[in-house]
Amino acid sequence: MALISTRDRVFELLEGETLLEGLERTGHKVEYQCRSGYCGSCRLRILEGSVTYREPPLAFLGRDEILPCCCCVEGDVRLDCGLSGEDEGLSDSLLK
Ligand code: FES
Repeated sequence: MALISTRDRVFELLEGETLLEGLERTGHKVEYQCRSGYCGSCRLRILEGSVTYREPPLAFLGRDEILPCCCCVEGDVRLDCGLSGEDEGLSDSLLK
């Protein structure tokens, strides 16, 4: 089972759980709207590891950014997010 590391926690995803659901279950505050790869609201920066998508997401992604609502982790990953929900370092152009 893949190990998910954030600024505040390390946890494993449960069977069938999306990365967004795992982050929510462990107390992380991640913004979301569509939960299906359209809006980009859940965008997070990935620091280590990699993810794949069953279908290419429609939301624009910058380099090193992922959509936890619809990605599949490929082994252990480290994410730039924490329990406070602050999304440090996301490119300004994507947040406007
Ligand atoms: S919540 Fe919309 S892309 Fe993830």
